[in-house]
Amino acid sequence: MDKFVIEGGERLKGTVKISGSKNAALPLLAATILKKGIYQIENVPRLRDIGTMTRLLNILGAKTEWTDKNTLQVDTNDLDNHIAPYELVKQMRASVLVLGSLTGGLRRATVSYPGGCAIGERPINLHIKGLQALGCDVNIKEGYVDVTAKRLKGARIRFDTTTVGGTENIMMAAVKARGETIIENAAREPEVVDLARMLKKMGARIDGEGTEIIRINGVDELTPCNYKVIPDRIETGTFLIACGITRGNMVIEGCMPGHVKSLIDKLREAGMDIIENEDTIKVAMTKKRPMAVDVKTAPYPGFPTDMQAQIMALMTVSRGVSAITETIFENRMMHVAEMRRMGADIKVIGNTAIVRGVKMLSGAKVMATDLRASASLILTGLTAYGTTEISRIYHLDRGYESIEEKLRALGAKIERRKDEGMGA
Ligand code: EPZ
Repeated sequence: MDKFVIEGGERLKGTVKISGSKNAALPLLAATILKKGIYQIENVPRLRDIGTMTRLLNILGAKTEWTDKNTLQVDTNDLDNHIAPYELVKQMRASVLVLGSLTGGLRRATVSYPGGCAIGERPINLHIKGLQALGCDVNIKEGYVDVTAKRLKGARIRFDTTTVGGTENIMMAAVKARGETIIENAAREPEVVDLARMLKKMGARIDGEGTEIIRINGVDELTPCNYKVIPDRIETGTFLIACGITRGNMVIEGCMPGHVKSLIDKLREAGMDIIENEDTIKVAMTKKRPMAVDVKTAPYPGFPTDMQAQIMALMTVSRGVSAITETIFENRMMHVAEMRRMGADIKVIGNTAIVRGVKMLSGAKVMATDLRASASLILTGLTAYGTTEISRIYHLDRGYESIEEKLRALGAKIERRKDEGMGA
């Protein structure tokens, strides 16, 4: 196992290029199951989760090959298997995204039922309810969700809770259903819009993506396509905060500023200078300490739960007291205990963290618990006095492409080392 060793206190300066979005790429790769053929997917980040998705596609019978640094060719011509095994789904919950495309493409899906994870229970009841509404027969057998769809027929589906994965799965199943499907209370995340755009390029008829109501008119035939993944908005946000917490000065390139609007609003309120252009953001922090701001996570276009830990990192050194409320997942405050070890003053009451900013954090040995929590500990490490060692950074490798190289190029003192203490 690897760890990161960070010497805090460097002000980050320079230009950073944002990678393709993990959470957009995963459903796009799953969508290649819908129609046999060859796809070139560009701007795919080289990450562990993408590796898991390609392994899953391989098990289903597809061939995958990197034809360029970030271009993945997927050949689904020989795809014939509909079973997503426990061994892969337990490594990555997003494997469940093949439920919709296997149902749409092969009319049959057997996918290991995902368990809970570090950040919450994360049930898939809404995915199942949606598939049943489309006419699928769904059974839970021996730890697997087994879907058979003799005929898929359009339906009106209202999600009780906004669900990104649920919306994506139902969209992928509904593009091949007979008649119209209406998804109400649909997720509006940019990743959902990106999937709709790829499906439309394949010939699907979809309207309303990016709004609460998505209408899908089923088609008989789709065609394979080439597609370019959108930039990662969570990586963009993480670098914005890296700039704020180190009092830096950066140009963030190849991003979509409109996708991080709720975050930018908060960072401006905290005192950061941010100029948005078409696909770049110029950002600087000239104030000694950020002002405290309150944050409450919400589905897009609200403040993303995937940025909650990182903004908390910024607030640990703010001037004032901030309240950070997590409304999406039940257990997404695991970073709090680690930040306290670095001197942060945080009290958790229910799903709200009350963060009283301190002048300075001190470096410590801390442990990463999930992907975004790990990112937040890098951020606290970058500002802390002294050395911070973050163990279990395999979480980070799931979701941030070349994070240490990118940070080093901006002037951070960060190194990856073997973590002897963790038993390799
Ligand atoms: C996606 O997860 C992202 N993952 C997550 O990113 C992100 O945190 C989350 O959306 C919210 O934005 C991918 O895109 C691969 P949901 P997803 O279904 O689709 C409840 C990261 O760090 N729910 O929108 O699994 C659920 O428990 C990750 O990159 C049900 O109750 O999230 C949660 O409280 C982590 N029943 C809420 O809805 C269901 O059937 C939102 O979950 C489905 C969901």
